[in-house]
Amino acid sequence: MKTNSKNILLTGGTGYIGSHTAVELLNAGYHVTIFDNLSNSKIEVLSRIEIITGAMPEFEQIDLRDEAELSKGFDKYSFDAVIHFAGLKSVGESVTNPLDTYENNLLSTIYLLKVMRKKAVLNLIFSGSATVYAIPETLPIKENNVLGADCPYGRSKLMIEEILTDLSVSDPEWKIQILRYFNPVGAHPTGLIGEDPSGIPSNLFPYLSRVAQGVYKELKIFGSDYKTSDGTCIRDYIHVVDLAKGHLSTLSRLDHSSGMEIFNLGTGHGYSVLEVVKAYEKASGIKIPYIFTERRKGDIPISYADPTKAEHLLGWKAEKTIDDMCKDAWNWQTKNPNGYIKKKKE
Ligand SMILES: NC(=O)c1ccc[n+]([C@@H]2O[C@H](COP(=O)([O-])OP(=O)(O)OC[C@H]3O[C@@H](n4cnc5c(N)ncnc54)[C@H](O)[C@@H]3O)[C@@H](O)[C@H]2O)c1
Repeated sequence: MKTNSKNILLTGGTGYIGSHTAVELLNAGYHVTIFDNLSNSKIEVLSRIEIITGAMPEFEQIDLRDEAELSKGFDKYSFDAVIHFAGLKSVGESVTNPLDTYENNLLSTIYLLKVMRKKAVLNLIFSGSATVYAIPETLPIKENNVLGADCPYGRSKLMIEEILTDLSVSDPEWKIQILRYFNPVGAHPTGLIGEDPSGIPSNLFPYLSRVAQGVYKELKIFGSDYKTSDGTCIRDYIHVVDLAKGHLSTLSRLDHSSGMEIFNLGTGHGYSVLEVVKAYEKASGIKIPYIFTERRKGDIPISYADPTKAEHLLGWKAEKTIDDMCKDAWNWQTKNPNGYIKKKKE
């Protein structure tokens, strides 16, 4: 195994994207420490990461909104950089319960930044989102496209970006990289880690997986009359392993950058919902029943990234195809029909 003396803190590192990033960092020889309150992830993730990489990340169950506990956590370790994944990500829940999303996402970020400043750890990568963009007037979406989130979740991400901008202006010692993810999907090719949503999934891939598995009888496709080739919405889906590798490239960039930078992490290609359904049928060998329903409020017809800035400055490019995304999502689903929860012995 390669070694690298750097210790990277992943907040929210037992979650979907964090766990895949932990694998890539450990494989590259980094030390990894995870702080997570396990509100949306399972402790079992850690042993799965160990099986894949041969290394177990350090772990502390800490809620980032508890500044004193967070500060104690920082006292135990010495960090070279922080990747801040922790947060609530459900668009739907942010609409029905905006205060929870704002409280969690904003307070945890503010306390994290205060503690980082106190402990002189000034290198940060932040999990941003393509939801911060307004309806695009031009495609593909570049980092300087007009911003304007239309749900509390997206606005919480935008507010954090503004906080980070102010922080970076106030103190040039900070090095901050904001990564705006497009639509992360799929799972690690081993099928040991993947997306394990609690409750009814609100995203296309985990829902599709459960339809293929027979848990739900059909996929509801929101809208069939968008101005796209087949009438369904088009999104830039990115394999979670490609996304995880983007963090590795961004860590290298932190060493040579100053101030704050923003990067889109996407593939640059859009797929319609019906194209994804076809690809998933091919990967699983299962016919996916679907029905068309009303458009969902706030959905924009087409969104895909211009990832060329990341390609030029981070030296990173997504490599996996839509077929890889579907194959790995299905592999994870069949190997873990109940997510991380093991079936009780008969
Ligand atoms: N998955 C996506 O589609 C997507 C797209 C764009 C951006 N993002 C962002 O990427 C980040 C990671 O997303 P994910 O899909 O891995 O989500 P996830 O829910 O799987 O992981 C987030 C982790 O953060 C933890 N967490 C939440 N609040 C916390 C708190 N106050 N203190 C400590 N831990 C806390 C959860 O337990 C979970 O393990 C999030 O910030 C999300 O907003 C995700």
